[in-house]
Amino acid sequence: MKGPEIPMLDLKRTFKEIREEVMDAFREVLESGRYILGPKVESLEKEVARYCGVRYGIGVASGTDALHLSLHAAGVGPGDEVITTPFTFFATVEAILYRGAIPRFIDIEPDTMNLNPDLVEEAVSEKTKAILPVHLFGLPADMPKIMEVAKRYNLAVIEDAAQAFGASIQSRRVGSFGLTGCFSFYPSKNLGGCGDGGMVVTDDPATAEKLRSLRNHCTDGRYLHHCIGYNSRLGELQAAFLLVKLKRIDEYNRARRQKALFYTEQLKEYVRCPVERTGFYHVYHQYTIRTPLRDKLRETLKKEGIASVVYYPLPMHLQDAVRWLGYKEGDFPEAEKASGEVLSLPVYPELTEEQQLRVCEVIKRAVDG
Ligand SMILES: Cc1ncc(COP(=O)(O)O)c(C=O)c1O
Repeated sequence: MKGPEIPMLDLKRTFKEIREEVMDAFREVLESGRYILGPKVESLEKEVARYCGVRYGIGVASGTDALHLSLHAAGVGPGDEVITTPFTFFATVEAILYRGAIPRFIDIEPDTMNLNPDLVEEAVSEKTKAILPVHLFGLPADMPKIMEVAKRYNLAVIEDAAQAFGASIQSRRVGSFGLTGCFSFYPSKNLGGCGDGGMVVTDDPATAEKLRSLRNHCTDGRYLHHCIGYNSRLGELQAAFLLVKLKRIDEYNRARRQKALFYTEQLKEYVRCPVERTGFYHVYHQYTIRTPLRDKLRETLKKEGIASVVYYPLPMHLQDAVRWLGYKEGDFPEAEKASGEVLSLPVYPELTEEQQLRVCEVIKRAVDG
C-alpha cells in the first residue's frame, strides 16, 4: 500500500527550525539599506574561509561562477586543456568552455565514481593548464594523489566542491587543497541558500585579489577598469541566510552521514551502496546506490510515492552540447556504466527512521521480486 510521500529533501522543515534567527537577520539587512557585498557577505567570506582552513573567501553569484572565475583567475584561456571527470553536473564543463578552453576527460574510479587519479598523468599534454576534480555526491576526490601530479607538471587545481561543503580528507577540508575551492549555495546543497549563490576559497593572496576584482567588473571603485570582469556579486540577504545555516553545518552533515550509514546497513545485500574511504569524510550530498535494476527500482519507488533521481543519466562526453569535442560511446566505460546504474535516494537531516525504513522495505521487495 502506498504510504506518505517521501521527497528528495524538505527545505520547509529545515526553515522551521531557523525561522526566528533568519527573520531577525533579514530585518537587520533590510533596515541597513546595504543589499549587495556588505558586512554580511564579508562575515560569510571570513567564516567560510576559516572553516575551510584558508585565508580568503570570495562570495560570487553561483557555484558555476565560482568555477568560471577561478579558471579565469588561474590564467586558463582559449585553447588550454583542463583535465576533468565526465561524470559530473554539466556546470563543471560549461565553466571550462566559457573560457574557450577544452575539457580533457578521463574516466572515473568504479568504486567512488570520482575522477581516477591514476589516469591524470597520461592525460597531461603541452596544452594542459589545470585539473578540475569534482567531489561528487559529497565524497572528496583523491586530492593527495591529484596534487602530487599537479605539482610535478605545474598545473593549477580548481576543486569543484559544489556538492561537498564540510567534506574532508584526514581532517583537511575540501576546497583547501587546490589553488581554489568552489562552492555552490544552490538551495539543495549541504549548505544551501534561499536562492543562488556561491563562493571561492583560496589561500593565495594574488588569486583572491584577482577574484574580488573579476566578480565586480574589475573596477577599482572609481570607475576605472583594468580588465574585463563580470557581474557576479553575492547579496546580503543571501549571506545573512547562509550565516545562520553555516553555524549548523556540522550538525546537518552529521545527520546526513547517520542517515547514509543506516541505508548502507539496511541495503548492502541488495544494491551497491556508496563507499566509505578511510580518512575521507563523506558528507552525503547524495546517497547514490547502484544496481543494474535501476529503472525498475525507480518505477517501483515512484509508485510508492518515494522520490529518487538519476544523477546523472548521460556522462558529459556524450552530451549533445559538446559533440564537437569528438568523444564517442565507449571512451569512458566506467562513467558510462555508472550512468546506467545510479539512483540517488532521499537523504537530508530531517528524514526520519520510519521514512528510511519504508524506502528500504520498498527497495528490498523490488530487488527480491
Ligand atoms: C558538481 C557541481 N558543479 C557545479 C555546480 C553549479 O553550481 P550552481 O548551480 O550554484 O551554479 C553544481 C550544482 O548545481 C554541481 O553539482
